[in-house]
Amino acid sequence: MGSLTTRLLTLLTSLLLLTPSLVLGLTNPVLWHDLADLDIFRVNTTYYYSASTMHHSPGAPILRSNDLANWEYIGHSLPRLQFDNRPEFDLTNGQRAYVKGVWASWMRFVPQKNTWFWGGCISGVGRTVIMKAPAATGPWTKHTELSKCYYDSGLFVDDNGTMYISYSNGGPTWVAQMNADLTAEVRSQLVFTAPTPPGYLEGTRMYKRNGTYYILLTKPPDGTWMIKSSSPWGPYTLKVLVQGVPNPVPGANAPHQGALIDLPDGRWAYAGFLDAYPGGRIPVIAPVTWGSDGFPAVTLVNGALGATYPDFLPSSPVPSLNARDTFPGPSLGPQWEWNHNPDTSRFALSSSSGLRLTTASQTFDIYQARNTLTRRIPGPISTATIQLNYGEMRDGDRAGLALWRDRSAWIGVIRNNGTISVAYTDTVDLTLSSWTTANSGVIRTTAPISGGTIYLRISADVQPSGNKQATFKWSTNQSQWNQIGTYTMSTVWNFFLGYRFAIFNYGTVGTGGAVTVPWFQIDMGRL
Ligand SMILES: *[C@@H]1O[C@H](CO)[C@@H](O)[C@H](O)[C@H]1NC(C)=O
Ligand SMILES: *[C@@H]1O[C@H](CO)[C@@H](O)[C@H](O)[C@H]1NC(C)=O
Ligand SMILES: *[C@@H]1O[C@H](CO)[C@@H](O)[C@H](O)[C@H]1NC(C)=O
Ligand SMILES: *[C@@H]1O[C@H](CO)[C@@H](O)[C@H](O)[C@H]1NC(C)=O
Ligand SMILES: *[C@@H]1O[C@H](CO)[C@@H](O)[C@H](O)[C@H]1NC(C)=O
Repeated sequence: MGSLTTRLLTLLTSLLLLTPSLVLGLTNPVLWHDLADLDIFRVNTTYYYSASTMHHSPGAPILRSNDLANWEYIGHSLPRLQFDNRPEFDLTNGQRAYVKGVWASWMRFVPQKNTWFWGGCISGVGRTVIMKAPAATGPWTKHTELSKCYYDSGLFVDDNGTMYISYSNGGPTWVAQMNADLTAEVRSQLVFTAPTPPGYLEGTRMYKRNGTYYILLTKPPDGTWMIKSSSPWGPYTLKVLVQGVPNPVPGANAPHQGALIDLPDGRWAYAGFLDAYPGGRIPVIAPVTWGSDGFPAVTLVNGALGATYPDFLPSSPVPSLNARDTFPGPSLGPQWEWNHNPDTSRFALSSSSGLRLTTASQTFDIYQARNTLTRRIPGPISTATIQLNYGEMRDGDRAGLALWRDRSAWIGVIRNNGTISVAYTDTVDLTLSSWTTANSGVIRTTAPISGGTIYLRISADVQPSGNKQATFKWSTNQSQWNQIGTYTMSTVWNFFLGYRFAIFNYGTVGTGGAVTVPWFQIDMGRL
C-alpha cells in the first residue's frame, strides 16, 4: 500500500514536471521571448529558428518546432564570440562590446552539402563569419570568415545548389553569388534601391517560389516589404506586405522584418517580430496566401494580425520552457547565455551542487564583471527564483540575481568585513548609445542575514502596456518572502535587447570567493 502510494506520487510528480506547454493553433506572440531578427525555415517537417544575441555568449540561439507554435531551445550557432581574439568580447582589459556581436544573421540547411550553416556580419568587427555543423544541435565550428560585411544578410540556396547571399544596409539591396564551397564571393550586384519614402530598408531574406525570386525586407520598426523578380539579379518590383498593422500585443510596434516559411503541404506563413520593450522583440506568425500579382498577402483578422489562427498545424507540444534548472551539466542548457564570453575556469556544473560561480573579476562595475549568466524573461509577467549558497563568499563579494539590461537593478548578498547582508541595488546604468558605465549602482536597502542559504526572487511585467514594474524579494525558508525593492524598467529601444534575469558573482576587493546556485526556476505571473 505504502509503496503503491509512493509510486503513484512519483508518477504524479513526473507528470507534473513533464507537463508540456500546450498551444492549439498559432497564438500570437508565438513565444514571448526576446528573439529578434528571426530567421525561421523548414527542413522536412521541422522548423528552425535563429535569432540575434549581440554581446551574449554563446550567440545565435537555435529553436526547433514541429508546428510553428510550440518552440524549444536546442543550441547555439556561435559557441563563443571568437573573432581574432578581440578582448572586448571577453570583458577583459577594461574593454567591452555591449550591443556589438551578433546582429541580424541567417541559418540554413544546405541539402547539397548535407550541412547546416549560420552566417552574419559581426557588429564591431565588420567581417562576416560563417559557421557550420553536421546537425542543427551541433557541434558548430567556424567554416570561414569573410572580410566583407554582408549586412543584415540572408542565405538562399537555388534548386541547382547555387548559393546567394542577399544583404542590405539601408536603401540599397544587394545580391552576391557565392562559390560552391561558400568560402568566397563570385559576383555581387546592386539589385534594388528603396524608393523615398521609406528610403530605408534592411533585414534581407531571399526565397524562390514557382520560378520567381523574392527578397523580404524590413522597414524598421513597423513594416515588412518585399521585392520580386524572375532573376536573382533583377529587375525587382516592390510590394508592401505589412505596414503598421495592429497586432495582439497592446503597446507593441507593428510586425516587421522576419521570414517566409513554406509548409510541406504547399501553404506558406509569414513570421515577423514586434518591438515590445521592456521585454524586447518577440515573434508573431500568420498564414499567407498568394495573389494573382505573384506576391504573398499576410492573412489578417479584422484588419489586424491575428491573436490566433486556430488549427493551423496539428499541435506538437514541447517540454515546458520554465522547468526548474538544477545545472547538472556537463553543459549549460541552451536557454542560458553569458554576458560576453565567460571565463570557463571560473564556473562549474554538477548534479550534486548545481552551478558554482567563482568570482571571475575584481571590479565595482557589474558591467565589467565576467561570468554573469542570463536568461530571457518570458512575457507577459514572470518570476525567477534562485537558491543561493553564500558560505564561501569573501569580503567585498557581491552575488545574486539581477534584472539585467542597460538600466539594471539587483538583489543579492554582499559581504563586507565579515558582515553578510542581503541588499537591493538600483541605478546600475550604462550611458545611452556609448554603453560606458554611467553608475555602478546605489544600494537602497540592506538586511542582515545568516545561515549560508538564501532564496532570491525577481518578478517582472515586461508588457509594453503593463506597469513595467519589477519586484525584488528574499527569503530564508521560501515561505515568508521579504520585498526589498521595486523598479520600473526602461523601454528605450537603443540597446536592442529586452530585460533578462541574470545570476552574478563578482569581487570588489579580490577574487577567489565562490557561491553555488543549486537551482533556478521561472514561474509565470508575479509571485
Ligand atoms: C529529411 O528527411 C529525409 C527522408 O526521411 C531524411 O533522409 C533526411 O535525413 C532528413 N533531413 C534532415 C536534415 O533531417
Ligand atoms: C544554377 O542556376 C543559376 C541561375 O540560372 C546559374 O547561374 C548557375 O550557373 C547554375 N549553377 C549550376 C551549378 O548549374
Ligand atoms: C507557376 O507559374 C506558372 C507560369 O507562370 C503558372 O501558370 C502557375 O499557375 C504558377 N503556379 C502557382 C502555384 O502559382
Ligand atoms: C572594512 O574595515 C576597514 C577597517 O575598519 C574600513 O576601513 C573599510 O572601509 C571597511 N570596508 C567596508 C567595505 O566596510
Ligand atoms: C520562515 O522564516 C520567517 C522569518 O525568519 C519566520 O517568521 C517563519 O516562521 C518561517 N516559516 C516557516 C514555515 O518556517
